[in-house]
Amino acid sequence: MTISEMQEQIRELKQKTNTAVLAHSYQAREILETADITGDSFQLSVAAKSAEQRNLILCGVKFMAETAKILNPEKHVFLANKNAGCPMAEQLTPETLAAMKKAEPDRAVAAYINTTAELKKLCDVCVTSSGAVQIVQNMEAEKILFIPDRNLGEFIKKQVPEKDIKLIDVGCCPVHNAVTAEDVLKAKANYPDALVLVHPECKPEVLKYADYIGSTTGIMEFAKNSSKNEFIIGTEMSITAHLQYECPEKHFYALSGKILCADMKMTTLPDLLNTLQSVAQNDGKAFEIIMSDEDIKQAGRCIENMLKYSG
Ligand code: 13P
Ligand code: SF4
Repeated sequence: MTISEMQEQIRELKQKTNTAVLAHSYQAREILETADITGDSFQLSVAAKSAEQRNLILCGVKFMAETAKILNPEKHVFLANKNAGCPMAEQLTPETLAAMKKAEPDRAVAAYINTTAELKKLCDVCVTSSGAVQIVQNMEAEKILFIPDRNLGEFIKKQVPEKDIKLIDVGCCPVHNAVTAEDVLKAKANYPDALVLVHPECKPEVLKYADYIGSTTGIMEFAKNSSKNEFIIGTEMSITAHLQYECPEKHFYALSGKILCADMKMTTLPDLLNTLQSVAQNDGKAFEIIMSDEDIKQAGRCIENMLKYSG
């Protein structure tokens, strides 16, 4: 079957099964073309909350499907590829976080949305990379423990110096964290006229050289709206390709060949088609996110607070 034949079947099955497809911007172009909603982690959360369809399929990683389920307990939520997880989401165990909370009970816990539902149950508020600074500023608490991403945490700390923000040592996105200052200097030497646009999951030594720091969507919007023509893109490599496709008159260069997320690349168009076929036949083969009402309630509190403090 060709890609366009598969896409045609996907569109028909979405209609037939009353399903919305939510795809993170790091997904492949052929998936984005069939999705109802595309965007960064925050946009997917907002869209999940307002989706009208009975079924949701997430093309991304597991915490995104869990977030969609938490925001839509009455809907069936599926992850298109059950093996796609975010390594950062697993870096801190609920037991370790519980011990940290016990040691400092006066600190509120802010969690990057890239965490498991089990961790979210212990947190006061979630943030995504797009609204992290504003959310932390809007929190009533003055003393905060931020988990798990140390790089995003360092970025927030600099922007919100008036609050006492404690970070953990272990957390990071292994993909963005692999980029070094040498990589930026090399890219800048190769493309001296290009602006450097970087995701805050990168190290402080990399952010130091950025002309713009922002979420996946923030970077895309900045590049599209800029009057400049050349950009070095410091986030997942697919964004460099998507921007080049959407703005053929501009030039986009990947900051480093290392920023490639294997988990985000795991989902294929056949995975999406197979999931929809399974939903249509109700054969139980699709990977559905199942959570108890109590877990949804406990993990949902910090996501609802994220939406509240973003407004
Ligand atoms: P955003 O979607 O918030 O930009 O985060 C990027 C990412 O790494 C998602 O896992
Ligand atoms: Fe997780 Fe990093 Fe991949 Fe995003 S890019 S899913 S944070 S490993």
